[in-house]
Amino acid sequence: MIDYTERIPNNVDLAADKTLQRALERWQPAFLNWWSDTGPVSSSLLQVYLRTAISVDRDGWANFGFVRMPDYRWGIFLVPRDENRTIPFGDHQGEPAWQEVPGEYRSTLRRIIVTQGDTEPASVEQQRLLGITAPSLYDLRNLFQVNVEEGRHLWAMVYLLQRYFGRDGREEAEALLERRSGDTNKPRILTAFNDPIRHWLAFFMFAYFTDRDGKFQLASLAESAFDPLARTCRFMLTEEAHHMFVGESGVARAIQRTCELMRNHNTSDPAGVRALGVIDLDTIQKFVNFHYSATLDLYGSEISSNAATYYTTGLKGRSGESKLVDDHKLTDAEYVVHEVSNGQIVPKTVPALTALNARLRDDYIREIQAGLDRWNRIPVQFGLPFRFELPHVGFNRRIGAFAGRNVSPEGQVLSVEDWKARESRWLPCEDDHLFIESLMGRVVEPGQFANWIAPPVRGVNNQRVDFEYVRFN
Ligand SMILES: [Fe+2]
Ligand SMILES: [Fe+2]
Repeated sequence: MIDYTERIPNNVDLAADKTLQRALERWQPAFLNWWSDTGPVSSSLLQVYLRTAISVDRDGWANFGFVRMPDYRWGIFLVPRDENRTIPFGDHQGEPAWQEVPGEYRSTLRRIIVTQGDTEPASVEQQRLLGITAPSLYDLRNLFQVNVEEGRHLWAMVYLLQRYFGRDGREEAEALLERRSGDTNKPRILTAFNDPIRHWLAFFMFAYFTDRDGKFQLASLAESAFDPLARTCRFMLTEEAHHMFVGESGVARAIQRTCELMRNHNTSDPAGVRALGVIDLDTIQKFVNFHYSATLDLYGSEISSNAATYYTTGLKGRSGESKLVDDHKLTDAEYVVHEVSNGQIVPKTVPALTALNARLRDDYIREIQAGLDRWNRIPVQFGLPFRFELPHVGFNRRIGAFAGRNVSPEGQVLSVEDWKARESRWLPCEDDHLFIESLMGRVVEPGQFANWIAPPVRGVNNQRVDFEYVRFN
């Protein structure tokens, strides 16, 4: 059970560990300062219809009610321990899962946790200003829900650092509150978490593409031999599902509204569509191209000896490791990756152990494609020929085999000049951002929606779509 009588709600029996409790209670005010400095702007007095975890049981983890966000009960929740759990893969396969960190893996494991932990506050910082231009109360509430849960994910990682990594862990926990998304001196660790999210189309794309990367990273850490990490990530995954829903349904509603007006006004010319106050489908495709390619970079290099080491030592598994049927050691297995050779993209068979980043990325791409297929049903319903497509994996990459290779969405390797000449057709340019920003304006009447986006099919937690999800007094 989670003890809500404590300052820090938890199901890890914090009261029995006074040293840890004191460390976390010292960190808590710093966290609240960070939230008020970099969390959602002008939000501290709003009452928001939020879900809060009150139990990790299947039915009890989502408790809805009005909360002022600075009073949100950020807490530490792990799925219950399975006393019989064994390590599912790697050199230690079959041994009991670790309840403490083995000395030889300490710094690597700390680095993995810090890198994951750093993305959580970063996304809150990236989304700080969006509340000002929310297209509805429903959307404003969803933004805030994502923000408070990313805050809780930070708590989840900080708990691990402070409980299991001693003084180094405490220092890392402080540093997580000191870096800032986009800051030149103290940036966040990963590039995609330093790009600004300027408007709601970018937010929905980010929640669809980048939170889903989060899902796959968490899914591979949920297999970790370090049991507290595995249990923490399992619980975080339940929350991540909602973030991806916000992204997928948000983009779908923008597409739907655009298609409605295209049909009603019988126009498909992008300028004509824009004149109707909605985002033309070609521009939405450009945002697909950008957020997809920026997120693929988060998987790191296709061939990675670090990834191989994480696997053989049991620190990070494959997504769904326990359900996969093979030796869980990948001793002889192979995997196909792609690389550029003589101006052509060619397949290359490599040891599967070194290609684990590529494999996780390919698992991710399958899910991303399925969501695109769902988006494509919308123009079909309106009798429009437009279809969204994922660009080639090599398109617009900054990391890995395709970094700086000027690969077109169709997978042609281009000269720098050809790339430069066509880039603005494929990726959002400043004018696209400015146009979308011009559509953004805060809508706060219950049940009303900005012109550029359709209402959702249903409300939150069986409430009506015109429910007052955020109260301003
Ligand atoms: Fe998260
Ligand atoms: Fe998330």
